Amino acid sequence: MTITIEPLDPGRPGFGGVLRGLDIARGAFAAQAAQIEAGMDQYAVLVIHDQVIDDAQQLAFSQHFGPMERATGDPTRAGERRLSMDINDISNLDQEGKVMARDDRRRLFGLGNMLWHSDSSFKATPAKFSLLSARALPSGGGNTEFADMRAAWDALDQATQAKCMDLVCEHSQLYSRGVLGFDDWTEAERELNAPVPQRLVRRHPNTGRLSLYLSSHAGQSRGWPTPEARIFLRDLTEHATQREFVIAHRWRQWDLVIWDNRVVMHRARAYDREQVRDMHRTTVADRAPTLEQPL
Ligand SMILES: [Fe+2]
Repeated sequence: MTITIEPLDPGRPGFGGVLRGLDIARGAFAAQAAQIEAGMDQYAVLVIHDQVIDDAQQLAFSQHFGPMERATGDPTRAGERRLSMDINDISNLDQEGKVMARDDRRRLFGLGNMLWHSDSSFKATPAKFSLLSARALPSGGGNTEFADMRAAWDALDQATQAKCMDLVCEHSQLYSRGVLGFDDWTEAERELNAPVPQRLVRRHPNTGRLSLYLSSHAGQSRGWPTPEARIFLRDLTEHATQREFVIAHRWRQWDLVIWDNRVVMHRARAYDREQVRDMHRTTVADRAPTLEQPL
């Protein structure tokens, strides 16, 4: 199998690609993993259409790109899960496969995915790649948008770059959900969600490019007064999510989209909550906490 990668948008050749020639269900992809990784280095987001896969096939494919993350959440709530801990359940379905009620706690928590974020930036070792498979979709809406944090960094003026360079931010889901007024936490969850430090500026290990490491989970900059840190992070996020840095993916059933959380922020967009939207995510862990990676 020969794979090819082309820009999603010819007007934006460096961000977002469509990958063709891969059939993940056939399982013969080990030889292509290095080529896909190189494509990810260039495009940061890759769309692969028509991948009719189950969770085991998705997991086997994902494992070519590094060690896998387990799904997040309070272990005492494991009985509420629909899918295994290998899969992040990005759906609006309960464990019986029914659309969740409007006030379902899990739904309200999941609304945080509509804020710009980088997956698992609240973990000490955050995510490298996310792989999201569209199993069932609503009739409209529900796009995922991606913002290029490399281009956002390049476009900052030098004084702002200098200000960012050595900053260490603290990330927690307590911050991102707090923005939405969600505060329905168990004590165990509060402990699991203690803030973790992350560099604000990162260097990609393969390309050497710098990028901003922003996320809705970032709520503090070490050594700064909190309101000053939050307004600075908000300003940076506004800068980084201007339309010129953003692409929107309109999902087709059985799309698999891979993105590099080290250099991309993303957010989900609204859809009719009474229609089924069933997405399964596997997540490849980064190799170390960001502070242990060279800048
Ligand atoms: Fe996400």
